[in-house]
Amino acid sequence: MTEAVSVGVFDSGVGGLSVLREIRRQMPAARLLYVADSRHAPYGERSRSFIRQRAFHIADFLLNQGIDALVVACNTATAAAVIPLRHRLTLPVVGMEPAIKPGVSATHSGAVGVLATSGTLASARFAALLRRFDDRRRVLTQPCPGLVEQVERGELTSLKTRRLLSRYLQPLLQRGVDTLVLGCTHYPFLRPMIEEIAGRGVTLIDTGEAVARRLCEVLRLGDPAPGGEGETLFWSSGELQRGTATMRALWDGPVDLRALPEPPLPLSPRAPD
Ligand code: DGL
Repeated sequence: MTEAVSVGVFDSGVGGLSVLREIRRQMPAARLLYVADSRHAPYGERSRSFIRQRAFHIADFLLNQGIDALVVACNTATAAAVIPLRHRLTLPVVGMEPAIKPGVSATHSGAVGVLATSGTLASARFAALLRRFDDRRRVLTQPCPGLVEQVERGELTSLKTRRLLSRYLQPLLQRGVDTLVLGCTHYPFLRPMIEEIAGRGVTLIDTGEAVARRLCEVLRLGDPAPGGEGETLFWSSGELQRGTATMRALWDGPVDLRALPEPPLPLSPRAPD
């Protein structure tokens, strides 16, 4: 392949940047196209059909930009839409799910906590993932409403974020959890605060690196992938000024954020009188 490979990556918002940075690290020459659907975040409280609609729209947009592979950098959107996306698209689609297997291997106390959105934890895909582990009692799940919004606002260290995190972490810590699986791509940006609250004895596991590795495998890029300096392009469905500020704080490089084109609204079946 003479031209650099192009990869589309999307999330409900800025969380997928935690995956994008791993992809950039492992694929320095790739052209990376990132879509933040910030106007519709959080996905965790949206219906499956709404998330599918958004995933189809974003995938179609990225296809038109000439991508070779799509990464669903969102656990919630993967649970809701990765199978229909794979049916719809002919290119490789890489999704993600909470890293329970590495979590179960890492624990010494025998108790693993999974932090994720309500949407991920309530999904059939997550239930199937849990069933793959013989001893499910070791996996304690914790939905974390409000955390995605805090990251979207760029509030990584605020008092409100700390209070929310303490509320979600304390019950897990009291039950002896020594390993925490970050089952939402927004949460790696809260890692310093999570580590501070959880303390030294607790291991944090996130999936970004494994997703980037899987992407290199499906694209057969070899190890190491070709070197170079690929461009990174950004779109958002949300407010651009605020989005730019948040993304610049989270992304190690220039961010020139553009508006994601939206499909025209469906025509009303009846014209108003
Ligand atoms: N980053 C998304 C995930 O990994 C957050 C989903 C949401 O917007 O609720 O699940």
